[in-house]
Amino acid sequence: MAKSKTYYFCQECGYQSSSWLGRCPECGKFGTFSEEVVKATSTAGSRRAVSASASTPQRIQEVTYSETKRIATHCAEFDRVLGGGIVPGSLLLLGGEPGIGKSTLLLQTALAIHDRKLLYVSGEESEQQIKMRADRIGINTDQCYVVSETVTQRIFEHVDAVQPDILVVDSIQTISTEEIDSPAGSVSQIRQCTTEFQHYAKTTGVPVLLIGHITKDGTLAGPKVMEHIVDAVLQFEGDRNYGYRILRALKNRFGSTAEIGIFEMQGSGLREVPNPSEFLLSQRDETLSGAAVAATLEGARPMFIEVQSLVSSAVYGTPQRNANGFDMRRLSMLLAVLEKRCGFKLGAKDVFLNIAGGLRVNDPAIDLAVACSILSSNVDIPISPRICFAAELGLSGEVRPVARVEQRIAEANRLGFEKIFISKYNLRELDVKRFHIEIVAVSVIEEAFRSLFA
Ligand code: TYD
Ligand code: MG
Repeated sequence: MAKSKTYYFCQECGYQSSSWLGRCPECGKFGTFSEEVVKATSTAGSRRAVSASASTPQRIQEVTYSETKRIATHCAEFDRVLGGGIVPGSLLLLGGEPGIGKSTLLLQTALAIHDRKLLYVSGEESEQQIKMRADRIGINTDQCYVVSETVTQRIFEHVDAVQPDILVVDSIQTISTEEIDSPAGSVSQIRQCTTEFQHYAKTTGVPVLLIGHITKDGTLAGPKVMEHIVDAVLQFEGDRNYGYRILRALKNRFGSTAEIGIFEMQGSGLREVPNPSEFLLSQRDETLSGAAVAATLEGARPMFIEVQSLVSSAVYGTPQRNANGFDMRRLSMLLAVLEKRCGFKLGAKDVFLNIAGGLRVNDPAIDLAVACSILSSNVDIPISPRICFAAELGLSGEVRPVARVEQRIAEANRLGFEKIFISKYNLRELDVKRFHIEIVAVSVIEEAFRSLFA
């Protein structure tokens, strides 16, 4: 009988302590520690197992490798985020809020990879429920095996029986190992189970895809302790009220983290969206004030997004600010800049901002569109839907250059825009005559304001 030892783990960040603590010294949260019993042999045992496969040191020039063939997922958006397919022997974590579509994405991918044998282990759903979902998705394959199981030791028995080329586990929070007494989903369980799957992936070369739930504030709680163990962390996000879903790589040992994949949730599973701009732009004919189109880039892909604002006199004492899909502090900063530079008393107004489609945009090139949409709503003069914007705003109201402006202009051209506003400092690198679109270069926000509304 292995000796057990009690440890206390912070359930937020996974910090381990031999006594209970009121405040976590790692993440600073209060009251997050809970007791977990760990068998003394477990970690030492698995560590021995991992190190047994380790090799001897070599000179770096002498190390040879063959270009490992990636496994194509037959889903262009998924492959794009992974950097060209699943790397054999890799361990991958797919995180996301409950109900966003993680199980659907991986089951759909599992069904689509018809040229490999695949084992889909679910700790959340029965085989019948998985089958119902598969019927909804409607892809037929004889290479996908499903099993409902929650204990790793038995999962590995199934793996020995099926001998899959890919293993999917849904979700890590429902899986437990007999090595540890604490309940499934606790920090020590998650850490130990992940280590076991990592060991399996590294020794057999079979890639393992793990699903992990994340908490409302967007952190991979629990899975935080997995982040450094796994090779790639993907996040599936979106607004549940809209159909769009975005797949992002937060960490990727085998590819870039700049690429995103875009999907639309439909009645029959997830549909890939290769051309996001065309449906992100609401097809408005009549021109309404407060809307402006931003030419943003996500990874290597241009995304044209409509920004909508509403500026109105504050009815109650304190003006309200609300931003959907845009950082609130950045909005406050832009409002302060507009107040100072364009002389509007925005401090006494309610300002509501909405990024169409429920998307969250990280590209700073959206700034100018946000500022112009606010100005448009404030003066109640519409901006033509054939105009778009690509520039960042500085604190003194200067319109700053953005990366890869040429690509944005080319895409604006392709989508049929007539005019694009960019920073004057982007002009130098440009061959303006190449484009059949009017390029308006401005250096301060007042110039943009005068050009649009004067
Ligand atoms: P699910 O994959 O179960 O989410 P997660 O595993 O991240 O918790 O998907 C949940 C939602 O997706 C559910 O509310 C129903 C919806 N859905 C569709 O709209 N179409 C479909 O074809 C499927 C399978 C699910
Ligand atoms: Mg699920």
